Amino acid sequence: MRVLHVVGARPNFMKAAPIIREMALYPGEFQQILLHTGQHYAPEMSKVFFDELGLPKPDVNLGVGSGSHAWQTAQIMTHSEPVLLDSNPDWVVVYGDVNSTLAVTLVCSKLAIKVAHVEAGLRSFDRSMPEEINRLVTDQIAELLFTPSRDADLNLVREGVLEDRIHMVGNVMIDTLVDLLPKAQEKWIHIKERYPFERYVLVTIHRPSNVDHPDTLSQIISALNEISYDVPVLFPVHPRTRTRIDELGLREINEDLKLLDPLGYLEFLALQMQSALVLTDSGGIQEETTYLGVQCLTARANTERPVTIELGTNQLVESNKGSLIDAMNKKLSEPSPQRTLPPYWDGHTAPRVVEVFKQLLVDKNN
Ligand code: UD1
Repeated sequence: MRVLHVVGARPNFMKAAPIIREMALYPGEFQQILLHTGQHYAPEMSKVFFDELGLPKPDVNLGVGSGSHAWQTAQIMTHSEPVLLDSNPDWVVVYGDVNSTLAVTLVCSKLAIKVAHVEAGLRSFDRSMPEEINRLVTDQIAELLFTPSRDADLNLVREGVLEDRIHMVGNVMIDTLVDLLPKAQEKWIHIKERYPFERYVLVTIHRPSNVDHPDTLSQIISALNEISYDVPVLFPVHPRTRTRIDELGLREINEDLKLLDPLGYLEFLALQMQSALVLTDSGGIQEETTYLGVQCLTARANTERPVTIELGTNQLVESNKGSLIDAMNKKLSEPSPQRTLPPYWDGHTAPRVVEVFKQLLVDKNN
């Protein structure tokens, strides 16, 4: 079976790595092709993850880069079409909810190439998020839907997806986390020399809803600045956020609000493990903190990952200065809540995914 995996943006890499590695255990059954769209291209947004996650070098890199949503999606579609025609895969596997996921899925639908979507069924019910549109459209087109949690199955069934196309396999990002936790622990010994704080808050903010409105971004930075006088704040800054912060022209930042360059997977995981509190608007980090049992505040009005609130350590908070300061202070004064792991967030999702493909081969040969 010829399988083409599509990655493009930072959060794709940790989802694809365990599945590619697992399929590689069966060279007689699977021939794999790795396509990188180039949505993320800076070394700290892409190459460092290939190195740390042991991903093979992409067979094809479309080198698309940044632009408006329509431009980026169109570029990926135009450039991936000849690659798909040329490589003629039996299956294309797409990951998550980024523009690369949607773009290649659309191309496959017109070429009658079957698509499998890993991390299907998540819904924020907020169509102002580009990712929600990417999720909805991808799931309508994909033939095989691998979901991380039961709420995702229910969302798909409600949207009319036939149940035999849905496979609840668990969270594949947790496979990467479980695999690399020991290496991250080793890294921590060196990292703590650089940040010799007794406790700290770790922050990632990059959603357009938080960073593209100067007033919202100012309120977030101002809240972080204030908190940092009590507990230091480590803030690895996404390129989009960096541009917006530069546009704001910030002055008078406390020296314990540390604006850092984007970090690699291992360093960020080590910092998550040891942090007193994480403030984020990322999807994956809501899940990783749930697995690690680290307190998490998500600066968004909604989440497509409700299981991290129901069972995990996550809580939503409004992106205004007062709410952020109150929520951070409250969390920092409380012990970490008891968390329960959602079913199948056990580090063995990739074998469950690959089992489904192996079964397809068996069915085909019978
Ligand atoms: C994308 C995903 C988002 C995901 C995020 C993780 C979509 C719609 N959004 O958002 O779901 O959470 O990745 O990082 O696909 N840039 C660089 N270097 C890079 C990549 C981007 O400087 O390597 C800058 C560019 O100025 C670009 C901006 O970041 O315009 C945004 O990049 P883009 O890929 O459009 O979206 P993200 O905000 O990264």
